[in-house]
Amino acid sequence: MTMNWCLLAGVITLFLSVSSLPYYEDDFSDIQGPYCENIGCCNDRQDSCSVPILGTLCYCDEFCNHTRVDDCCPDFWYHCKGIPPPTTTTTTTRGPPQPIVGCEVEGSNRTVFWKEKVIVNCNECICESAGRDKVELLCETNVCLMDPMITETINRNPEKFGWTAANYSEFWGRTLDEGIKLRLGTLPPQQFVMRMNSVRRMYDPNALPREFDSEEIWPGYISGIRDQGWCGSSWALSTAAVASDRYAIVSKGKEAVELSAQNLISCDTKGQQSCSGGHLDRAWSFTKYYGLVDEECFPYVGRNEPCTIKRQGSLARAGCRPPKYGDRKSRYTVGPAYRLGNETDIMYEITKSGPVQATMKVHHDFFTYNGGIYKHSDLNLNDRHGYHSVRIIGWGEEMTYNGLQKYWKVANSWGPNWGENGYFRIARGTDESEIESFVIASWPGVDRKILLMAEELPNPA
Ligand SMILES: *[C@@H]1O[C@H](CO)[C@@H](O)[C@H](O)[C@H]1NC(C)=O
Ligand SMILES: *[C@@H]1O[C@H](CO)[C@@H](O)[C@H](O)[C@H]1NC(C)=O
Ligand SMILES: *[C@@H]1O[C@H](CO)[C@@H](O)[C@H](O)[C@H]1NC(C)=O
Ligand SMILES: *[C@@H]1O[C@H](CO)[C@@H](O)[C@H](O)[C@H]1NC(C)=O
Repeated sequence: MTMNWCLLAGVITLFLSVSSLPYYEDDFSDIQGPYCENIGCCNDRQDSCSVPILGTLCYCDEFCNHTRVDDCCPDFWYHCKGIPPPTTTTTTTRGPPQPIVGCEVEGSNRTVFWKEKVIVNCNECICESAGRDKVELLCETNVCLMDPMITETINRNPEKFGWTAANYSEFWGRTLDEGIKLRLGTLPPQQFVMRMNSVRRMYDPNALPREFDSEEIWPGYISGIRDQGWCGSSWALSTAAVASDRYAIVSKGKEAVELSAQNLISCDTKGQQSCSGGHLDRAWSFTKYYGLVDEECFPYVGRNEPCTIKRQGSLARAGCRPPKYGDRKSRYTVGPAYRLGNETDIMYEITKSGPVQATMKVHHDFFTYNGGIYKHSDLNLNDRHGYHSVRIIGWGEEMTYNGLQKYWKVANSWGPNWGENGYFRIARGTDESEIESFVIASWPGVDRKILLMAEELPNPA
């Protein structure tokens, strides 16, 4: 369920001891503004410390309260004395002092004064009058990326959901829309990808291992966890990481390289949207035709930086290393991308050539994932979602409260503090969050010379 911060608009009235109350009877009380705040004087008698108001002057010194008619500026009490004014603006005769009011902020010990603003998670709130002597906290109604309601519900019953949730401080204060726009970044698969043929391979599905982890099979060859930042670039990071892993695996470490995702973000711009998302088929075609440089040559900045690396030509002139076994002009290329049709095809492919790229549908609750085997929980009432691409590096199965649960082990790009050290596990074999629907891989364009050399080497596993 979506936490609606409007619910916070509780009406709270604070009564302070009457003896400390000033009288409010000036004629200016309904003209709000930062008068004293702007001129910056409050103490003693300073006749010059005045501001024009309604064709006369109001004062910001202690003597403004001593004249027969109160000529203090409207914000004198609040700005100079720290005393909030009452909410009623109709006092024209000297009457009993008005109670001073403030709004309480739920979930914190804070009380904010009348007209004071406060940020609650991803919404700005203001303490406003709600009739005589009453105030309420009025808040914007954005759906926040970190929703305490989702986190608490999941964590109250983690056995039922199969996973636990956390409040991530880097996501706190952001809206769900920002999360979907800037933490994902894969444009929905186009017809072209949907129609792509799956490769057919001969293998015995029953002979596949029950558990597999690329990092254990090919230690040192698998890319680490990246943080895309607030840039919708998962399309580029996952493509570069899958290609890098496969370069190292296929060449048995001879051509271990970290390929540049920024190269894609900045240079693969045709039909792509840089930090606002990209298509995977276009990313793979770009890599196939032009190739990528390494991370050192074009480091990740997570912004729409101009393309400073020419698609062709000498890399040395740009201060970059070409592939070790390539010529001076070459870049890291790949073969045509292919699609993997089902659970066992994906597994077989990983055992043969390494991690694959998957696209998943991300809902609100996924952002809070902390550990366990993820399944979409449907706790959020909104149906906002986006597409995200990630890297499947292995699988396994685990005995859970709900029986034996098969899962994929997947690398995300939200930094190592998110999830299980940057990875997450997700239910396998049920197309959970569409993660088995658009799985893509490609062969690295490893030079023949290394392939022949690598043939001679034993497998590291
Ligand atoms: C303002 O004037 C009233 C009435 O003379 C007095 O009771 C009150 O203490 C004064 N307040 C300040 C802050 O000087
Ligand atoms: C609220 O204030 C009380 C007393 O000042 C303090 O003991 C308590 O820890 C505070 N709670 C929070 C959530 O800050
Ligand atoms: C979540 O984390 C943020 C930042 O660390 C913190 O300000 C906020 O109070 C936390 N929210 C909850 C509900 O624990
Ligand atoms: C996937 O498809 C292959 C044929 O391409 C088939 O042999 C295999 O049993 C299928 N696996 C699943 C889990 O359906």
